[in-house]
Amino acid sequence: MSKEDAEKSLEAGADGIFISNHGAHTLDYLPHPFQVMDEIVCVAKGKAAILVDGGFRRGSDAFKGLAFGAQLVGLGRPILYGLAANGAVSVKDVIQQVTEELKRFMSMTGSSDPEHVKRDLLIKS
Ligand SMILES: Cc1cc2nc3c(=O)[nH]c(=O)nc-3n(C[C@H](O)[C@H](O)[C@H](O)COP(=O)(O)O)c2cc1C
Repeated sequence: MSKEDAEKSLEAGADGIFISNHGAHTLDYLPHPFQVMDEIVCVAKGKAAILVDGGFRRGSDAFKGLAFGAQLVGLGRPILYGLAANGAVSVKDVIQQVTEELKRFMSMTGSSDPEHVKRDLLIKS
């Protein structure tokens, strides 16, 4: 969750960096990944895969995660909510809905694949 930790991870030879506030379910005053991603991506881009989770709920959230520079955007509780609602069928529904919305946003922004979802599509913080 910081540039300094990312630098230490790279020095230690990490192939990937997972940016995660663990869903902030332990402490609700943790920063959101979007508040730290720009500085981490700045030091890690091209050197390690960047993965992120924590608070991502919809396809538009996944889109934003990709735009900020992640190669993977993870969803924790949405999958569990689907599981609780109606088992495997609802888990599949959640994944399909998120994927369809992500594809819609990619189409609307002319992003041909996840690698081409660019940071400058979003406002600067
Ligand atoms: C009930 C629950 C338990 C969790 N336990 C752990 C854990 O033991 N270790 C860990 O690294 N992350 C844990 N997480 C965090 C998840 O790995 C993941 O980072 C988080 O759920 C993603 O955020 P989201 O749920 O908002 O999508 C837990 C999350 C939940 C909801």
